[in-house]
Amino acid sequence: MTRTIAERLDDPEAAQAEGRRKMDWAEAHMPILAELRESFAAEQPLDGERIAMAMHVEAKTAVLVELLAIGGAEVAITGCNPLSTQDDVSAALHAVDGVTSYAAHGVDTEEYYDAIEAVVDVDPTITVDDGADMVTHIHDEHPELIPQLKGGCEETTTGVHRLRSMADDGALDYPMFAVNDTPMKTLFDNVHGTGESAMANIAMTTNLAVAGKTVVVAGYGYCGRGVAKKASGMNADVVVTEVDPRRALEAHMEGHEVLPMNEAAAEGDIFVTTTGNRDVITREDFEQMADGVVLANAGHFDVEINLAELDDLAETRREVRDGVEEYALPDGRRVNVLAEGRLVNLAGPLSMGHPVEVMDQSFGVQAVCVRELAANPDAYDAGVHEVPDRLDREVAEVKLDAEDIDIDTLSDEQREYMDSWDHGT
Ligand code: NAI
Repeated sequence: MTRTIAERLDDPEAAQAEGRRKMDWAEAHMPILAELRESFAAEQPLDGERIAMAMHVEAKTAVLVELLAIGGAEVAITGCNPLSTQDDVSAALHAVDGVTSYAAHGVDTEEYYDAIEAVVDVDPTITVDDGADMVTHIHDEHPELIPQLKGGCEETTTGVHRLRSMADDGALDYPMFAVNDTPMKTLFDNVHGTGESAMANIAMTTNLAVAGKTVVVAGYGYCGRGVAKKASGMNADVVVTEVDPRRALEAHMEGHEVLPMNEAAAEGDIFVTTTGNRDVITREDFEQMADGVVLANAGHFDVEINLAELDDLAETRREVRDGVEEYALPDGRRVNVLAEGRLVNLAGPLSMGHPVEVMDQSFGVQAVCVRELAANPDAYDAGVHEVPDRLDREVAEVKLDAEDIDIDTLSDEQREYMDSWDHGT
C-alpha cells in the first residue's frame, strides 16, 4: 500500500507549516494564478473533475494544485523526479481540502512508480504531467480509464516529444495539450527560467565563480539559449555544441563559439547539457577534460551525461560538497558532477526550480488548459493539440495587467490591412 506524504513523515504538522510558508511566498508573487483563483472560486469550473498529476512538487506547483482544488477538482499528485520533491511542500499540499499527495523526496524507482499507480486511484478525468510518465502509465497499465479521460496537459519539451512519438505510432488514445509549446511557456520558462535557475544553482552548489570561466552549453534550443545568455551575462565565455545546423548558426550569430563536444570538452570549465537527448557527454569527452571541471544537466532526464562511462573511467568517487560528486580519474584529474546528473535547477540540495514569476506564466497556461478540457471535452480528438491561442493570450493579458504595462490596440483600418491580400502599394 503506497503511503501518502503525511503517513511517511515523523512530524507531518511541522512539515506542513513550513511547506505552507513556502507556498505563501510563491503565491504572493503569482498574480496570474491569483486572478484565476478568484474566478475558479466563484465559478467552480472543475466541479466533479478528478485530476491525476505527476509534477515537480515544490511551492509553485503547489499553488497550481491548490488552485485546481479551489476550482472544484479532486486532485491526487506525485513527483515527476525522485529528487525534486520537497517533503514539506508535499505535506502542506496533502493538507489542502480535496488534495492527496504521494510525492516524497528520494524515493527509489519502484516507489516512484508505485506512487504514480496510487495517484491513478483517484479515477481521473484529466491528467497533468511533466515528462509524460502519468500518461504513459495510464496507457500501459490502465487502458480502461481512457474512455473517461477528457484530456491531459503536458508541461515540458521531453514530455511533448514522447507524446508526439506515441501519436505517430497510433498509441496516444486521448487528447493532450502541448502546454510546453505555447509562447507564454516556452519563451519564458524554457529560456529565462532554465537559464537563470540552472546558472544560479551551479553557482550556489559549487560556490565557484562563473565569471572568467568557459561554459560549454550542449544544445542551443530554448533552454540552451537561455543558459548561454545568462552565462554570458555572468561574464563567462560560452561555447555551444549542436547537431542542428540552423541552431548552430544562430549560436554563432549570437557571438558564441560553436564546436563539436569532443573539442569543446578540452576547453570548458563548466558544462551544461540542455538537449533532451542521451549520451551527449561520453567517455571520449571525459578523456579530454581538464582537472576540476563541473558537469551539470538541465535537460529532463538524467541520461545526457553518461555517468556509467564516467564511473567506469574513475578510480574513486566521493561527495565533496552537498550535491557535488567528484569522480577521480587514474591520472589525477577530477570531474565534478552536480545533482547526480539530474535537472540541476530542480534536483540539487539547494534547488528551488524556476523563479516564481516565470512559473506563474507556465502554470497559468496549465490552469486555463485544464479549465478548457473540463468545459469542452468533445472539442478535442485523441492526439497532441496546440493550446488554443485565445487561452495563451488570456494569460498574457492578465500578466501585462499585473505588471501595469499598456500596449497599443489595432485600429479597424490596421486590422483590415493586415487581413487583406489585394494591396501592394
Ligand atoms: P529544444 O528542442 O528547443 O532544444 C534542444 C536542442 O538540443 C535542439 O536544438 C537540438 O538540436 C539539440 N540537440 C539534440 N541532441 C543534441 C546533441 N547530441 N548534441 C548537441 N545538441 C543536441 O528543447 P528545449 O525546450 O530547449 O528543452 C531541452 C530539454 O530541457 C528537454 O529535455 C526539456 O524537457 C528540458 N527542460 C528543462 C527545464 C528545466 O527546468 N531544467 C525547463 C524546460 C525544459
